Amino acid sequence: MSFSDFVTELPKCEQHLHIEGTLTAERRWLCAQANNIEIPGVKSLEQLKGQYLTEYLYEEGQDATKYLQEFLEIYYASMNVLLTEDDFYHLALDYIKVAQAQNIRYLEAFFDPQAHTSRGVSLDTVMNGLLKAQGEASNYGVQLHWVLCILRDMSAESALETVRRAEPYKNKIIALGLDSDEHDNPPSKFQESFLMARKYGWKITSHCDVDQKNTHEHIRYAVTELGGKRLSPKQCELENPELYLTPQLESGADRIDHGMNIADKEELLQLVKKANLGLTLCPMGYQKHLGPQNVFPKVKKIHQFGIPITLNSDDPAYLVYSKTETILGVAEGCQFSFKEIYEFEKNAIKMAWTPDVDFKRKF
Ligand code: HPA
Ligand code: ZN
Repeated sequence: MSFSDFVTELPKCEQHLHIEGTLTAERRWLCAQANNIEIPGVKSLEQLKGQYLTEYLYEEGQDATKYLQEFLEIYYASMNVLLTEDDFYHLALDYIKVAQAQNIRYLEAFFDPQAHTSRGVSLDTVMNGLLKAQGEASNYGVQLHWVLCILRDMSAESALETVRRAEPYKNKIIALGLDSDEHDNPPSKFQESFLMARKYGWKITSHCDVDQKNTHEHIRYAVTELGGKRLSPKQCELENPELYLTPQLESGADRIDHGMNIADKEELLQLVKKANLGLTLCPMGYQKHLGPQNVFPKVKKIHQFGIPITLNSDDPAYLVYSKTETILGVAEGCQFSFKEIYEFEKNAIKMAWTPDVDFKRKF
């Protein structure tokens, strides 16, 4: 069996995926038409597709440390076409179909409510659309759960208000995440929101994006302090706690999104290992900006240190690589074997936050 056939057929999980980062040119065009919104400089779908291909290409010599801010500018500007329940429903349903085509059976996806409420779209509109799609995901053989992300470049008050407003949906959301511009926006700024998330019974995660200012301190805080005391596995009433990756520190996040810079410091590698946390990596996105030589050796080092990692697509509409292409690209870049690729999907099952990962079901 070829490597490509093996990866294509492998049942997969995805746990680092921003649903707004899956907004294709086609869907953006349809929403723009339906909502009477002009896309600057674009008069046709063909033109928009061309923009997708050229806008987010990293050029040699560009300042690689700015890539996150530059990406986010495009990411937020593009989503202004999402206005109605139907828009959010179709956005999510489009990706559910993509997941089905890639044999992604289990998906924990982020959404960014503040990116919509700040434009006058209500949380109810966003949730109704996303939850409707979630309700239909099993028709496509996909188990889907939502992770609410707060935007770290907005205020701590706005984050807390968002988490408060999400209370009616607390049983329909599984975790609180933290994304957007990391520069001078440490996880500690949002401790109150994470404490509230714990009260809702949500899991906790934080982006610690690659090569950001103070990233090592952000990782340390997230691993050891974010969200205060967590529930013990017994209190969580997991049926088979041994099947899950159970965090071992009394407080801190349940997972780290990215966190690749732990490879720079032995003490952080030790800390994450001791905490028994997994990392959701998106290496094909980083290597576009940082160069493969600055990414693949670190991925390999973290894996060889015994820390569970998963491979994910992050924002596939913009970063181009799908989950399947990500696995293939990383396998080549790191010279990973079939067995190691299989292991990453097993890690993903252990890192899952719900007990419904069911790979035996036939679709
Ligand atoms: N990093 C931070 N914020 C984000 C990302 C990301 O990769 N994608 C969407 N929001
Ligand atoms: Zn991300």
